[in-house]
Order: sequence, then C-alpha cells, then structure tokens
Amino acid sequence: MGMKPYLMGFALIVALVVVGCGQGTYPLDIFYEMHYQQTFKSHEPPRMAGVEGAVPVDWVPAPKSTSFNTGEHLFNVNCSMCHGPGAKGDGPVLAKMMKEYDYKPAVDPDLTSPGVVGMQKKGMMGFMISGVVVMPSFKKLLTPQEMELIAEYIVSLQ
Ligand code: HEC
Repeated sequence: MGMKPYLMGFALIVALVVVGCGQGTYPLDIFYEMHYQQTFKSHEPPRMAGVEGAVPVDWVPAPKSTSFNTGEHLFNVNCSMCHGPGAKGDGPVLAKMMKEYDYKPAVDPDLTSPGVVGMQKKGMMGFMISGVVVMPSFKKLLTPQEMELIAEYIVSLQ
C-alpha cells in the first residue's frame, strides 16, 4: 500500500514550503555569529587575489594589537547589539524586538542591575552557555576563556 510516487513528490513539496516559510523560534531572526564577519577577522589577509604582478606600495600592515579578544571587544561583538554598549539592556536589536514585535524580556536585560551583579561571573557564564529565551546560547561560539573575559568586562561596567 505504498504511496504513489507523484503523491510523494507532492507531499515533499508541501513539506518544503511549510518548513521554508515557517517562522523560526525567535520573533526576529538575527545572525549572531559575528565571528564570521569580515571586521572580526580584520587581521586576516584580504581574500580576493590581487592583480597579477602588482606590488603593494603603501600597504601598512595592521598594527599587532591586543585589543582583539579583550572582554570589551568580545562584548561589543557578541552582546552589545541586544544589551547595549554600556550593558544597560538598551541595544538596537532588542529595542526592535520589543517595539516592533512586542517582545517582553523574560528577565531584566540590564546587565548592571542588582540581580546580575549578584550572580557574579559564574552566573553570567551560565547564561552565556544556556541562552535565555531569545538570547542565543554561546556555548559553541565562545570558549570558556572568552566567556570569562566578557563576564569580567560586564563586572567592570556594573
Ligand atoms: C539576541 C539578543 C541578545 C544577545 C545577542 C545577547 N543577549 Fe543576553 N539577554 C537577552 C535578553 C532579551 C535577555 C532577557 C531574557 C530574555 O527575554 O531572553 C537576556 C538575558 C541575559 C542575562 C540574564 C540577565 C538577568 O537579569 O538575569 C545575562 C547574564 C546575559 N543576557 C548576558 C549576555 C551576554 C554576556 C551576551 C553576549 C555573550 C548576551 N547576553 C547576548 C538578549 C540577548
């Protein structure tokens, strides 16, 4: 009693349309893997090949800086779009979710609030690992050391 092949094909198309057009779990899809951004990889050589035979003339190599992979830099790249540059919970992405999608944060997104001060570094790292409702999990994106640097930076803002 197998399904007719054309019926199966039709079912597949319907399934693809349903899956493809369905909304994600989040009210607003954001691309939070900022690591793949060119700006984040600015110490890498340019990816496009130059003109054959061309010689770089005025090229000044980017200064070797330690400003990458500081807690501040990692916070700005991964968290500030929602939590705001001062971690007050006023980032533009979260503001858009709240205003246009009527999203109500499950807990206070102000990371300088007494509640977050009280949870200390360990608690914040726990939230980075687990994620919270619309806040994605950073388990696979940040190393424990990076999470610790971010948590230390947040403590410095509190
Ligand atoms: C997509 C937006 C978004 C990003 C990106 C994001 N968060 Fe959040 N975060 C939230 C929201 C919104 C909440 C409140 C819970 C909820 O409704 O999801 C929250 C909650 C938290 C809390 C718990 C606050 C409390 O009052 O208990 C901590 C800690 C936290 N975030 C840390 C971070 C850190 C650190 C990063 C970066 C590594 C980060 N978040 C990235 C949106 C985000």
